[in-house]
Amino acid sequence: MIIRENCSLADRNTFGMNVKADCLADWSSVEELRSILTDIKEPVLVMGGGSNLLFMSDFKGTVLHSSISTIDVLSDDSDRVRVQVGAGVVWDDFVAWCSVNGYWGVENLSLIPGEVGACAVQNIGAYGVEAKDVIETVQTFCLADGTMRDFSAGECRYGYRQSIFKNELKGKYAVTYVIFSLSRKPQPRLGYGALEQEVNALGGPTLTNIRQAVISIRESKLPDPKVLGNAGSFFMNPVITAPEFDKIKSSYPDVPSYPAADGMVKVPAGWLIEKCGWKGRSLGPAAVYDKQALVLVNKGGATGQDIKKLADTIIGDVKERFGITLSTEVNYI
Ligand code: EPU
Repeated sequence: MIIRENCSLADRNTFGMNVKADCLADWSSVEELRSILTDIKEPVLVMGGGSNLLFMSDFKGTVLHSSISTIDVLSDDSDRVRVQVGAGVVWDDFVAWCSVNGYWGVENLSLIPGEVGACAVQNIGAYGVEAKDVIETVQTFCLADGTMRDFSAGECRYGYRQSIFKNELKGKYAVTYVIFSLSRKPQPRLGYGALEQEVNALGGPTLTNIRQAVISIRESKLPDPKVLGNAGSFFMNPVITAPEFDKIKSSYPDVPSYPAADGMVKVPAGWLIEKCGWKGRSLGPAAVYDKQALVLVNKGGATGQDIKKLADTIIGDVKERFGITLSTEVNYI
């Protein structure tokens, strides 16, 4: 276990915010986590790769980060493979490992920043697949009483970028391991956008080709956090009622959409933001990425307040033009 006092978090958040935590503890076993909690400076923030949060100021408490980095095959038959993965494994390292071993299920989620523990909290998703599609069990540690609890995927109450860990149980549990159920049989899912075309250009739907195609598409649209600070999609795609959608469509016949549950309609927030004229525009050191309007970037030296000011301005403009209130996918800390 490594415990640091008054520690910079600049390289621990993909927005590159230059903030500090009173204490940062990297724990690598349940015993270690239990021992820290006996004498901890509160409040506590459980953090993964820092790819989905925006620090508004220094964190006056303890940041807990899992360094559990094991990947273990629990069972393997000709059909399915069950794998237990430590919360601190870098998500894309796990996807690469699956690709090398011939395990299907997560290839469409290639190159998503962050770590395995956070994937189960955030229900990450891309190109028609969500983490919940392959999660069997989320293993956790209760910060209040030190007990262990396994949540089945059903108990996690997964929805679009939602889980029980972001809602009712927010801040109460630290993920230790996630158990995934993967397929040995090919299961290409190429229905999203230009994915199939890209995969065919590479020679057909093998695991490696799908992973490579997703990586190419992401690299062409999304900024590399090492070059330009960002947290991926800053906003969630809003889900609106059919009458609300029809009203927008009557003025904007080209509005893209996806069907959502219960007859609702999901509209890409990036399109709404672009229509409001924000794509590629800046407000001080914060900007809207020029290739994907859903992504806000730190042009250098931006504070959390700078990014929030831009986000709030965009929310106001989208509300005024479309009557839709955007919600952030990024969490303000
Ligand atoms: N669009 C625009 N302008 C833009 C961006 C998008 O008009 O600036 C429109 C286009 O019509 C495009 C449609 O929106 O066809 C959808 O765009 P895209 O395929 O880029 O996906 P998205 O809905 O904007 C979501 C996820 C991404 C994920 C992609 C691909 C959310 C909030 N975002 O974006 O996730 O990679 O789909 O599956 O659901 C992330 O969560 O960090 C993330 C990058």
